[in-house]
Amino acid sequence: MKTCHLWLEATVAFLVIAGASCLRKVSLEVVPEVVQRGEKVILRCHYDLENAPLYSLKWYRGRHEFYRFSPTEEASTKIFNISGINVDPDNSNKSQVTLRNVDFGLSGTFICEVTADAPTFSTASASKNLTVVSLPREEPVIVSERERYDPGDMLRANCSLPPSKPPVHLSFTLNSIPVETTTRQQRTKDDEGMQWSEISLTLQPFHYTNGRLNLRCIAQIPGIFSKQSELHLVSGMREPVPERDFTLFTLNKFWNWKRFVSFVLSHMRTQVN
Ligand SMILES: *[C@@H]1O[C@H](CO)[C@@H](O)[C@H](O)[C@H]1NC(C)=O
Ligand SMILES: *[C@@H]1O[C@H](CO)[C@@H](O)[C@H](O)[C@H]1NC(C)=O
Ligand SMILES: *[C@@H]1O[C@H](CO)[C@@H](O)[C@H](O)[C@H]1NC(C)=O
Ligand SMILES: *[C@@H]1O[C@H](CO)[C@@H](O)[C@H](O)[C@H]1NC(C)=O
Repeated sequence: MKTCHLWLEATVAFLVIAGASCLRKVSLEVVPEVVQRGEKVILRCHYDLENAPLYSLKWYRGRHEFYRFSPTEEASTKIFNISGINVDPDNSNKSQVTLRNVDFGLSGTFICEVTADAPTFSTASASKNLTVVSLPREEPVIVSERERYDPGDMLRANCSLPPSKPPVHLSFTLNSIPVETTTRQQRTKDDEGMQWSEISLTLQPFHYTNGRLNLRCIAQIPGIFSKQSELHLVSGMREPVPERDFTLFTLNKFWNWKRFVSFVLSHMRTQVN
């Protein structure tokens, strides 16, 4: 717009006579601004020439021009061969440019530059950033050493997810309360290796709700990605045992016959009551 104002000052008399005016409101729309690697992106340049004819619309990735629309030229569209940029010619024209099969290298600033035709040749541009990501399609996987934990036990669990770019942030909650713990996390620079996070904490009675522990792992990239999964753990001793489940498995648990007998007695009492 600065260029434009200079032109205005320099040629004000001519402009008044010609009724020509200046470029306005140039803006660039990138759809989507965050895109999965391998997908396509549509770039749209919005501008108001205020009745002046268009001379050219140039598209840049950083300093490299990759597409030009100039209606006064014989070949009105030009594609420049820039490595990593795949312009889809069938879906590119004076109002938009489509890029196919985008890769990480395209993350960065895109610019559209509009130039009005004679007499002003005023130029204005707009820019916007594109971010190419690779996000996991899976939910995180939680693995714990056991299914049953009593107060005083050490709960150890591991939450993992395939690699992503950028890496995810993994966090845990236990019955919806964030778990503060010494978390180890392995992140990978490139596409190899899993991302994972581990917790280990000593369980206290207050961690339980009705004898249950609901361990949740949340994988997040702020504003872009969020997936979570849950693991249901139970207390070994306090779990209420429904009578129809009174099987050998349950018997095994009551390795202590004294406890078994008192359990049966207490159940009989409840039924009598
Ligand atoms: C674009 O440039 C690359 C090397 O930079 C070359 O291999 C390729 O053939 C070129 N494509 C066209 C259409 O000129
Ligand atoms: C430009 O191309 C897109 C996609 O092919 C199309 O939807 C749009 O109507 C075209 N615009 C013009 C002005 O030709
Ligand atoms: C756009 O990207 C450039 C370089 O990659 C960076 O310096 C700039 O801060 C980014 N702008 C926004 C608005 O994110
Ligand atoms: C956690 O899981 C990941 C992925 O399966 C594995 O590479 C890592 O060794 C596990 N960590 C521990 C401490 O078991």
